[in-house]
Amino acid sequence: MNNLRPVGIIGTGKYVPEKILTNSDLEKMVDTNDEWIVSRTGIKERHIAAPDQATSDLAYEAAIKALESAGMTGSDLDLIIVATITPDSSFPSTACILQDKLGAKGAAAFDLSAACSGFVYGLATATSFIQSGMYNNALVIGADCLSRITDYTDRNTCVLFGDGAGAVVVGEVPEGRGFKAFDLGAEGAGGSLLNIEGGGSRLPASAETIENKKHYIYMNGREVFKFAVRVMGTATIEVLRKAGMDRTDVDLFVPHQANVRIIQSAMQRLELPEEKVVVNVDKYANTSAASIPLALVEAAEEGRMKAGDTVLMVGFGGGLTWGASVLVW
Ligand SMILES: CC(C)(COP(=O)(O)OP(=O)(O)OC[C@H]1O[C@@H](n2cnc3c(N)ncnc32)[C@H](O)[C@@H]1OP(=O)(O)O)[C@@H](O)C(=O)NCCC(=O)NCCS
Repeated sequence: MNNLRPVGIIGTGKYVPEKILTNSDLEKMVDTNDEWIVSRTGIKERHIAAPDQATSDLAYEAAIKALESAGMTGSDLDLIIVATITPDSSFPSTACILQDKLGAKGAAAFDLSAACSGFVYGLATATSFIQSGMYNNALVIGADCLSRITDYTDRNTCVLFGDGAGAVVVGEVPEGRGFKAFDLGAEGAGGSLLNIEGGGSRLPASAETIENKKHYIYMNGREVFKFAVRVMGTATIEVLRKAGMDRTDVDLFVPHQANVRIIQSAMQRLELPEEKVVVNVDKYANTSAASIPLALVEAAEEGRMKAGDTVLMVGFGGGLTWGASVLVW
C-alpha cells in the first residue's frame, strides 16, 4: 500500500441512544446478576434505541458529527458505506436512506454485511476506492440496533448487546499518514455458531418462525469465544507484518468490544500495557459494527491519539469474519 495515494480518517463522530439498560435492570428480566455479567464479560450497562429510532437514525447522528469534524457537508461525499446487520429494512439499504438525509446527491451508497468486523471491512473498501482514484471522500459508518434482534428472555445473549453508531470520513491525508495495511478474512464454515436463521430467503418470516424465535440472535458463546481469542491474535500479528511493523510500534490498540476477557487475552499475547488499549465495553456492551468506531471515536475525543500515532483496530464476528487495520493517525 506504500506507493499509493495516502488515505486515512479525516473526521469522526459517534452516537448512542439516551436510554441506558443496566445489569440490575436485566436482573429483573432474566435469571442473571450483576456479578455474573461483570466477571464474565466486563459489561455494566448498554444503550438501547427508543421505539421510534432505527439504525439509520443512530447512523445519521454519528454521520453529522463526523462531517462537521471533517469540515464537510453531505454534498462533499461521493461514497457512503454502512456496515450493519440491522438495516432499517431489507432494502433499500440503510446507506441509501442516509444518502438522502445527508443531501449527498449522487453519492454511491451501499450496506456491508460482515457483522462485528463490518466497520474494518468498510474502511478497507473505502480506502481501496479512494486509493484507486475512483472516489475522494467516503463516509464509513458502523451502526447497529442489536436490541431489535435480541431475545430478552434468553440470558445467554441478552446481557451482551447494545445499540449505537460510529462514523468516520475517509479521504486523502498527508504523506506518511493513513492506512498502512488491512487484514480481512472469513471462516464461513463457522457461520452457524452465530446467526439469525429466519427472515431471509432460506427461511422467510412466518407465524412458525416467529413462534420458534428464529428472528433473534443465536450464539454458541464458548465456540465464538475460542474463535475470537484465536483471530484477535493472528489477525493482529498478520496486519502488523503486512505494515512492516511489530507490536512495539502500536500506540493505541482498538479492539472489538465484545467481552473484556477476549480483549485481555489479546493484550497478554501482544504484551500491550493497559494505557495502550481502548476498553469501553463496560458502558456500551457489544454494539456489533458500531463497536470499533465507538471505541475509536471516544479515544479521539479523549485526546488519546496524536498525529503520527500508530492505531491498530481489530474485530471479529458473525460469518465468521475478522478484520484488522494499521492506521497512522
Ligand atoms: C457468552 C459468554 C460471556 C459466556 O461466558 P462463559 O464463561 O463461556 O460461560 P459459559 O458459557 O461457560 O456458561 C456458564 C454458565 O453460566 C450460565 N449463564 C449464561 N448466561 C448467564 C447470565 N447472563 N447470567 C447468569 N448465568 C448465565 C450458563 O447457562 C452456564 O450455566 P451451566 O454451566 O449451568 O450451563 C462467553 O462465552 C463469551 O463472551 N463468548 C463470546 C461472545 C461474543 O463475543 N459474541 C459476539 C461475537 S461478535
